[in-house]
Amino acid sequence: MSASPAVSVPLRAATPEGAPHAHDVMHWMRPGTLQFQALPPLSLYIHLPWCLRKCPYCDFNSHESRTGADGLPEAQYIDALIADLDASLPLVWGRPVHSIFIGGGTPSLFSPAAVDRLLGDVRARLKLEPGCEITLEANPGTFERHRFRAYRAAGVTRLSVGVQSFNDAHLQALGRVHDRAQAIAALEEAAQAFDTFNLDLMYALPGQNLAGLDADLDQALALAPPHLSVYHLTIEPNTFFAKHPPALPEDDIAYAMLDRITERTAAHGLQRYEVSAYAQDGHRCAHNLNYWQFGDYLGLGAGAHGKLTFAHRVLRQVRFREPRLYMERAMAGNAVAQAEEVGRADLLFEYMLNALRLREGFALAQFSERTGLPVSTIQRPLQEAERKGLIGRALHRVWPTARGLDFLSDLQSLFLPEE
Ligand SMILES: C[S@@+](CC[C@H](N)C(=O)[O-])C[C@H]1O[C@@H](n2cnc3c(N)ncnc32)[C@H](O)[C@@H]1O
Ligand code: SF4
Repeated sequence: MSASPAVSVPLRAATPEGAPHAHDVMHWMRPGTLQFQALPPLSLYIHLPWCLRKCPYCDFNSHESRTGADGLPEAQYIDALIADLDASLPLVWGRPVHSIFIGGGTPSLFSPAAVDRLLGDVRARLKLEPGCEITLEANPGTFERHRFRAYRAAGVTRLSVGVQSFNDAHLQALGRVHDRAQAIAALEEAAQAFDTFNLDLMYALPGQNLAGLDADLDQALALAPPHLSVYHLTIEPNTFFAKHPPALPEDDIAYAMLDRITERTAAHGLQRYEVSAYAQDGHRCAHNLNYWQFGDYLGLGAGAHGKLTFAHRVLRQVRFREPRLYMERAMAGNAVAQAEEVGRADLLFEYMLNALRLREGFALAQFSERTGLPVSTIQRPLQEAERKGLIGRALHRVWPTARGLDFLSDLQSLFLPEE
């Protein structure tokens, strides 16, 4: 799902003119009680908020473009993104960019020329690390052969294709704008045009049984994706499915499905390195890994979240969510609706929300480096998690056990701030 890492902090309501101190670097640099010895890698997330049609399960900040791709305010939106970046530069001065993720929404609604301009404007302002991974999310409903190659030529290094299922009946029930044949054509072209790509699937779909899941996996694995993301369909509040819930497979079937996914991906050389992510050697997603390792990210675009570390604090930002308002506010110099320092207890819990999703877990030294907190702060919950068989520990590392991954929210909740 990529675009947003796990976040626990409820942020205060937006003010109409934007968050105070949003770009005031001296404010965020002032002394404080936390000590960060080094800054983590910095990624860039860019949100493009339009889709052809809103899927009934989706709670992402995505808006139907009633006029299709032709009616999108492409040029104005990129102007706004760049104005937003310009205003944000003092907060990330001198830091190289580790990875870029252009997510949505449906970024593949934007023309390759627009993506080319966007990446050119980003490069003119920020230094990218050598080999910087640049992912773009694509929907097979927007697929044209020349388009994927043109994204590659614009500098995109990795495509993430939202397929969800290869079964036309499921695709229809999920309100998708593409069918099985378009999905296969898009993935075949992604494999040709890019050195690496990701395929998004969902499981535990309305009316799906184990045989249906097997058929989806047969097709997905036949395309030999270097990276596969498989998400349990969740019914999110404020979606069409929340108001009109479809009949879903029972929990024990869903567990059996997850076991099947883990077994079959492993047999095809895809290692489960995160709760929902499976990759061939050398094809893990650098951008998402940076989220899960509690790295920094500047989030540009409507509703985008950001996290930035300074010598004595961590800043959390959220941009205005509604695309027109975002564009207006970005052009006026402050697209940041909310900006807040993350408190100590929330830092600890957010670190665990992310790092415990990784099969390899985390190094204790990294916990201190990324949260500014001493390891002693987590000794008690670590002991408790170990006693319950949810984590394994060596001298310098902690990782979730198989049981810990199965009961991840129980494990994470051991690190919740005490009341
Ligand atoms: C933000 S979407 C962007 C991808 C692209 N817009 C698309 O849908 O083709 C990223 C992925 O999140 C997953 N996703 C979205 N909503 C979900 C939900 N309610 N439950 C599980 N997975 C979900 C889907 O697999 C989707 O491909
Ligand atoms: S295409 Fe993707 S982002 Fe758009 S509504 Fe569907 S799931 Fe959400």
